[in-house]
Amino acid sequence: MPFSPEPGTATPRTQREWWRDAVIYQIYVRSFADSDGDGEGDLPGIRSRLPELAALGVDAVWLTPFYVSPLADGGYDVADYRDVDPRFGTLADFDALTAAAHDLGLRVIIDVVPNHTSSAHRWFREAAAAEPGDPVRSRYIFRPGRGAAGEEPPNNWNSIFGGPAWTRLKRPDGTPEEWYLHLFDAEQPDLNWTSAEVHAEFDDVLRFWLDRGVDGFRIDVAHGMVKDAALPDIAEGQKADLLDGTTRLPYFDQEGVHEIYRRWRTIADSYPGQRALVAEAWVEDAERVARYLRPDELHQAFNFEYLQAGWDPRRVREVVDRSLASNGAVGAPTTWVLSNHDVTRHVTRFGGGATGLRRSLAATLLTLALPGSAYLYQGEELGLPEVTDLPEDALQDPTWERSGRTERGRDGCRVPLPWEGAEPPFGFGPAGTVPWLPVPAEWAGLTRAAQRADPGSPLALYTAALRARREAAVGAGDAVEWLDTGPEVLAFRRGAGFACAVNMSGAAAVVPLTGEVLVASGPVEQRADGVVLPADTAVWLRG
Ligand code: NOJ
Repeated sequence: MPFSPEPGTATPRTQREWWRDAVIYQIYVRSFADSDGDGEGDLPGIRSRLPELAALGVDAVWLTPFYVSPLADGGYDVADYRDVDPRFGTLADFDALTAAAHDLGLRVIIDVVPNHTSSAHRWFREAAAAEPGDPVRSRYIFRPGRGAAGEEPPNNWNSIFGGPAWTRLKRPDGTPEEWYLHLFDAEQPDLNWTSAEVHAEFDDVLRFWLDRGVDGFRIDVAHGMVKDAALPDIAEGQKADLLDGTTRLPYFDQEGVHEIYRRWRTIADSYPGQRALVAEAWVEDAERVARYLRPDELHQAFNFEYLQAGWDPRRVREVVDRSLASNGAVGAPTTWVLSNHDVTRHVTRFGGGATGLRRSLAATLLTLALPGSAYLYQGEELGLPEVTDLPEDALQDPTWERSGRTERGRDGCRVPLPWEGAEPPFGFGPAGTVPWLPVPAEWAGLTRAAQRADPGSPLALYTAALRARREAAVGAGDAVEWLDTGPEVLAFRRGAGFACAVNMSGAAAVVPLTGEVLVASGPVEQRADGVVLPADTAVWLRG
């Protein structure tokens, strides 16, 4: 069912295209809510909790992959793009979830994973069973090896998860033959985007879900589908890393990806209701990101420079200015994001403990005060920290094994959410549920139910900020007028009626702003000469 412009409980939207200033809440499906007690979150679980997200005040949800998958990479290894994994529910559950979200005024964005499939996908099984040179192999990137007997990989590329980016196939009798490329896990073979069949397949996959009423797609590894045709070696010592935005690599950000997005844009635009496309593109800088957002390409891209700016006022201000300028030049909104399922939670990145929490809440007010769209990662509204001490035998991120057990990977930000109650799993699933990752007992005080009852909680702050953001249309427009407040305090006006200040120094600071305090992340004091902000604290003012 398509999105209704007059949804049940939400404030009616203005005439702006919804994605230009939407706050989009990322649901990591496995870890959100488990309806059936198998330890994995699922679509009915999400549906049952949607009213809580409507109450939080977000505009949309983004669901990470729930497709049929062996879960070698948490579902980013898709075996069937047109069905729901039984662990997560059914297509009927998906339809019911979408309808319920729309009734609550929430749009639904889903992940599409076009760079690679699962090795359990029918196409890859056919390719592996075929002879070298068979057309079914041309859906992937197969090559003979180097060396006298083809025993060396075709080039020196490494997997982003560690180890070589090539795996050699073996015949059932053990005879080695061609190699296939996988920028991620060996169970995630890269598709060959020079194949017309691959293009046609994804056109159809997009339509399949658009027909079911999704409001948009988050495009996984959007900068990776097209490879330099020569598959050249990379410089010795060059990092394969997805998170390394500083080096040009022959498998990322190639010109050919833009042609794909121009096509996808025509598909999205052929549907009513402003369907939106958002890129996960870890490219060098804001100018390269903006190339994905030209008017005939994608609507949004995650702003990873902002995510990586740290608790550093100079850097944050530079990134804000550069992002707005680059995106403004192509008429696109900027997105602001502090956390997702691939990075250490920002409470921990900002120092952990009470300091990390204080800074993270101040950073949230900064993020939500900026023009454009913001992405929230599930659990940040509860102030959840990274879980850094998961037992080794619980770790599931492929990074752990592929790095030779030297890098623990991303499981620490994927721990199931605490909803209510005094003991794990805190309402994540029915009583007796053993979650797929253990939930720390210390999270008893961080459950949503506990925070709902506490006006000083992170949840209360997020809820108040989102309400104020919506009421004052803070995300609209594109101007940020910085005030001269010294190097360690960021303060800006957004038009005449709204201002935000963040004290990123280690001591209290007076900021020459007056007006009604809309929201503050800590105890602020108003004086004739301005507002006094404790260290690591932010405030929004009206007037
Ligand atoms: C980016 C996703 O966010 C991440 O979780 C995944 O491992 C890689 N893409 C590969 O699909």
